[in-house]
Amino acid sequence: MSTVTGPAALSLAEVDLADNDKFTDGTLPWRMFDVLRREDPVHWQPEPAPNSGFWAVTRHEDIVRVDRDPETFTSMRFTNLEEVDEDYIALRRSLLETDGMRHRAMRLILQKQFTPRAVATYETFLRGLTARTLDAALPKGTFDFVKEVSADFPINVLARMLDVPEEDTQQLIDWGNRIIGNTDPDYADVLLESAESEQYRDLPFRSPAALEVFEYGRKLAAKRRGGGGTDLVSTLVNSSPRDGVPLSDTDFDNYFLLLVVAGNETTRHAISHSMLALIDHPDERARLTADPSLIPGGVEECLRWASPVYHFRRTATRDVSLGGKLIKEGDKVVLWFASGNRDADVFPDPYRFDVTRENIDHVTFGKGSPHFCLGNSLARLEMRIMFEELLPRLADIRVAGEVRRVRSNFVNGIKELPVAVTLR
Ligand code: HEM
Repeated sequence: MSTVTGPAALSLAEVDLADNDKFTDGTLPWRMFDVLRREDPVHWQPEPAPNSGFWAVTRHEDIVRVDRDPETFTSMRFTNLEEVDEDYIALRRSLLETDGMRHRAMRLILQKQFTPRAVATYETFLRGLTARTLDAALPKGTFDFVKEVSADFPINVLARMLDVPEEDTQQLIDWGNRIIGNTDPDYADVLLESAESEQYRDLPFRSPAALEVFEYGRKLAAKRRGGGGTDLVSTLVNSSPRDGVPLSDTDFDNYFLLLVVAGNETTRHAISHSMLALIDHPDERARLTADPSLIPGGVEECLRWASPVYHFRRTATRDVSLGGKLIKEGDKVVLWFASGNRDADVFPDPYRFDVTRENIDHVTFGKGSPHFCLGNSLARLEMRIMFEELLPRLADIRVAGEVRRVRSNFVNGIKELPVAVTLR
């Protein structure tokens, strides 16, 4: 068992969860979450204009309470920190920003394709894909693990589910980076904080890359409408939602874009963080290598450790008390899932990375929410197979350069993870 002490304490005055610059060094976010959980677990965080500030919910128990109660804490006013104008809400709304019956009806369209049983049918394909990726990357000896391994893998699975050609995968990765990385100058075409982003207020994440994704998705939809395909696009365009309201073109655009970005970035970062944790804790890596039956449990600890999504937001639909604070109707309420995953009330010694930790009640995919991650079984399968294939091939692996992180308080991402490997 490997022990890492918690990061050094910070004072409450040093906390600013709205400042993306505080999310690039890999330790500061955890230190901010720690002081908040300890001293002000439901904390009012001011934001620069035009935003109006938000309640930061940092304890596991409170996060779950909010996530479970969509009537009081709605997603209909959007789930990122951006305050989307009334005029653009209908244009930008996806499954993620829909509640109630309509949400259930939209989610049911694809739910069957994401059950544990359905995703298990990808196991052979995934194992082949992983072996191919590793056999190309590992002999290089020294390489960027993100580019050569983590990035390659989730997108190819998604490409298969969408039934799009393999040569399009790099394009899908780039779109995801440009859209989700809208606060990182290395990725964004137009930074979210810039005045220029105003003209893209009608687009998801205010990203012009969204227009390219829409166009790509529409071409696929046009070809597959009325056909007998079983891929995700065919299912979307040829199914009738249970509430009897057909998907509009806008519904399709936003659903398609959500699939492209949700399943790609997150799983990539989960794999990179897990690799880094296993490099930093060679004794834990050795346990998984010696006994692969520990890998599924190890994946849960990796998911807790990685927390690739820092937060999602809700909006209070009525005045409500939480953690001793009075939240007013209309206030933004932000669930810091990553913080919940280090809550010592739920995870004894939370900074200990332990692949045999028991009862890992992490909130990495949300918890008890109608929005609970649709792709969780797929992400879990991808991670399990990745480490089942990777670990037996490795004699040693070390970090061989600077680990670079995405500048984002939304996605906890690793941009570059240079490694040096010795093969068995
Ligand atoms: C480790 C990887 C992943 C992480 C950490 C992650 C995290 C999340 C989180 C936190 C939510 C919101 C939960 C809530 O509000 O309670 C979510 C929703 C969602 N995720 Fe994932 N996700 C991952 C992988 C995937 C994959 C592989 C897909 C599939 C393509 C996917 C598709 C979605 C969709 C469609 C939603 C919206 C569901 C809804 O609104 O009903 N995710 N995910």
